[in-house]
Amino acid sequence: MNNRALPQTQAVSGLLFSLFLLVHLTNTAIAVIGPHLYDRFQAAARGVYQWLLLEVGLLAALVVHVVTGILRMRARRGARTKPPLRLRLHRYAAYYLAVFVFGHIAATRLPAVLADAPPFFGGVSFSLHFLPWFFYPYYALLGIAGLYHAFYGIPVALGVLGVRAPQVIRRGTGFWVPVGLGAAIVVTALLGFGGALYEIHDPFDNDFARAYEAAASYFSDGSR
Ligand code: HEM
Repeated sequence: MNNRALPQTQAVSGLLFSLFLLVHLTNTAIAVIGPHLYDRFQAAARGVYQWLLLEVGLLAALVVHVVTGILRMRARRGARTKPPLRLRLHRYAAYYLAVFVFGHIAATRLPAVLADAPPFFGGVSFSLHFLPWFFYPYYALLGIAGLYHAFYGIPVALGVLGVRAPQVIRRGTGFWVPVGLGAAIVVTALLGFGGALYEIHDPFDNDFARAYEAAASYFSDGSR
């Protein structure tokens, strides 16, 4: 691949995936308001992004984005200049996402595909009640890393494709205020899933929780 093709492929795949990510993070933010609206939004959005060709395209865009990122990282090896803080944070977010995102997809999609038990609000709520010490930091970092990576990455990707985003969203308060606000909303949404903002239904009483518990007991019985 020539020198321009790699950043361009990474930019296009990142922009395509970010169409889903912005909808997905909006869905997460809606948990601040309540479970009913979260579930209605998710059911409606799913009707689009889980249409087979679109879902395969979404996963393909993600894989291409991660692979081109790794190739560019390898090409940078040995560079001596220290990048600015915002760019370093963008890269740390990428490393976290690359490690966890495929596990996240499997954990949320396999119960739906194998046991007809999609997560909805109750599934995220179940995870937070089942293993709180793991899922609170894991989901907080996932949401904040996704938000930061998209906010920093979208204007950069547009720039690679020759579209200059306004300066106001690229740096300074126009960048940090929405990112900081978005991070606070992710944390507040998790408190909603956790039952700290409003009353929630028993998080262990839903199909997603039952599918996980059945799988867990199947594997623990099998290992005895
Ligand atoms: C606090 C943050 C997050 C929460 C609570 C969360 C929750 C969920 C839930 C409940 C689903 C299942 C959705 C459905 O079946 O319609 C899901 C799927 C998914 N999530 Fe997340 N997510 C978070 C952050 C992220 C981030 C940052 C990314 C990517 C960078 C991501 C990527 C995905 C993908 C690709 C799917 C599968 C979509 C599909 O193929 O249907 N998520 N997530």
